[in-house]
Amino acid sequence: MDSNYIKILNDDLGKLKLLLTPLISENIKVNNDSIRCLNLACGRADESGVLEEILNPLAANLEIFGVDIRERELDIAHNRWRTKPHVTYTFLSHDATKLHQISELTQPCDIILMRHQNYWNGAITWQKIYDSALNRLGSDGILVITSYFDKEHLQALHAIQQLGATLITTIQNPQSRPVLDAPNKSVDRHIAVFHKNMA
Ligand SMILES: C[S@@+](CC[C@H](N)C(=O)[O-])C[C@H]1O[C@@H](n2cnc3c(N)ncnc32)[C@H](O)[C@@H]1O
Repeated sequence: MDSNYIKILNDDLGKLKLLLTPLISENIKVNNDSIRCLNLACGRADESGVLEEILNPLAANLEIFGVDIRERELDIAHNRWRTKPHVTYTFLSHDATKLHQISELTQPCDIILMRHQNYWNGAITWQKIYDSALNRLGSDGILVITSYFDKEHLQALHAIQQLGATLITTIQNPQSRPVLDAPNKSVDRHIAVFHKNMA
């Protein structure tokens, strides 16, 4: 990655952090001074540092799991984000529609993030991914999604609520960077937070 592109990515992450910090801090419930966070469909997991900076002050122990099906992206994530005091990283290659098969995720998560969820790319698959995610959330847990474009965000909001989750809030990123080769898409254009609240 050249230094210009890294700067662009870091700018995006700075904007994401600004918006996510209050959304997460005001809605997450921390038990036993520890947080289990799942970054689902994480790709290279660029947003790991943002998660760390937001969640680390909230609990003494932070575990961040990243799950994706693309091994190459996970290798990049694994090499970049290393376990250190107070933060444990685990990157797992797995189909996110089948999270119940992952032994490391047997205990419920406090927060699950899906940055740039991909509903448009396969509604049925992504409905299964949302369902699988909600099943891995603790009863007080929160699900956070971001989306690249308006219609996809609305579809995701609808699908996740259909699965029994409660929408807490959805906001638009006022400084979202347009994706040059994709008209009408922009980075972290929308962010939504849900409570699990299953019946
Ligand atoms: C739009 S990318 C977002 C990646 C990253 N979160 C980001 O914001 O840069 C969607 C991701 O979903 C992953 N994905 C798609 N289907 C999946 C599945 N069934 N299980 C796990 N990951 C999946 C892709 O490999 C890809 O990394």
